[in-house]
Amino acid sequence: FQVYSPETAKENQKYPVAFEEWEKLARETLEDGPYWYVAGGAGSGSTMDANREAIDRIKIQQRMFCDVEERDLSVSLFGQTYHSPILLAPIGVQSIIHEEGELGSAKAAAEMGIPYIASTASSFAMEEIANVMGDAPRWYQLYWGKDQDVTASMLRRAEESGYSALVVTLDTPMLGWREQDLRNAYLPFINGIGIANYLSDPAFCSKLEKSPREDIRAAIQYFFSIYSNASLTWKDLAFLREHTKLPILLKGIVHREDAELALQHGVDGIIVSNHGGRQVDGAIGALEALPEVCDVVQGKIPVLFDSGIRRGADVIKALSLGATSVLLGRPYVYGLAAGGEEGVKRVIRNMIADIDLTLALSGRKTIKDLDRSLLASSSHDS
Ligand code: FNR
Repeated sequence: FQVYSPETAKENQKYPVAFEEWEKLARETLEDGPYWYVAGGAGSGSTMDANREAIDRIKIQQRMFCDVEERDLSVSLFGQTYHSPILLAPIGVQSIIHEEGELGSAKAAAEMGIPYIASTASSFAMEEIANVMGDAPRWYQLYWGKDQDVTASMLRRAEESGYSALVVTLDTPMLGWREQDLRNAYLPFINGIGIANYLSDPAFCSKLEKSPREDIRAAIQYFFSIYSNASLTWKDLAFLREHTKLPILLKGIVHREDAELALQHGVDGIIVSNHGGRQVDGAIGALEALPEVCDVVQGKIPVLFDSGIRRGADVIKALSLGATSVLLGRPYVYGLAAGGEEGVKRVIRNMIADIDLTLALSGRKTIKDLDRSLLASSSHDS
């Protein structure tokens, strides 16, 4: 992606370039409720701050004279090759951000060749999202609830509609203490937004006396009774294995012992993440947890990363510490808020160009060339 051509220079004036500008535009576009639902974190916001501090603390120590004329940003995951080391993170209830919602983000991802991870809490059913993506790569993110028939049915639907990996989010058995949302009395789910995957699920509907169309209140009530399950433990993973052939990634791991348990339970991938600082206040910055998780995993399975990624250099740091690929969260949501599908595309395009330039200027040609030797040793432990 050429960034300095005359055409792109002109185009860049129509939209923001920096993350902070996108965020500002989103702030101007959205009402308080939805804006703070996206921008807010748990409690005092200290984990969101820690995410940034952990990334800022790591420093790149670039090399010269390395012939970086030809570069390759591609990465392989579960037998597929992707041209860039980024994916769009699962983000629910996107219709509160823009009327195009997940369909806009998914189309942008498809067009840019970036895998899209569809959330259980999407405002559109997973089949509708799949439909707008053609055969572009997509993964499904599961919020694992109390009704195992509904879970099994969701897994079946994900396989049938072409999702090629399953992301199981572990850090959200309940929503964190989100002070802005409490102050704004804002919870998207109360209006039934974000439950499209349930309303379209045959197993879910079979538990209701009337169809959701006839009795939406009863449907929402049943959703609230099953949508999360705080009693799950490691031994429950066997259920998912029985019900899907897809590779299983666990999202929300920030502790070396959980990384060990994940390996012992034979999962296929780990996503080091603290949900963008939205769950546990006062927690470790996610990037700080990445090296210890990678040390445990020793390359046996891919380790992905999110929480706090805003620019190309952030991606280069995460990859150098051992991540295979990185998920974008709020950056693309702000793109969606400000410009729908086109906004998301611009965020992705700029991010890829920024990664490419930072890689080259660091003296590396490929993502595989990135390791801890690129980072100032005083900025990280090992
Ligand atoms: C999220 N995230 C999230 N994660 C998930 O597994 N399922 C989901 O439905 C959601 N929904 C969601 C909504 C909003 C508004 C945000 C901001 C985040 C977490 C997301 O996948 C990712 O972990 C974080 O967004 C990464 O942090 P940054 O990059 O936003 O700081």
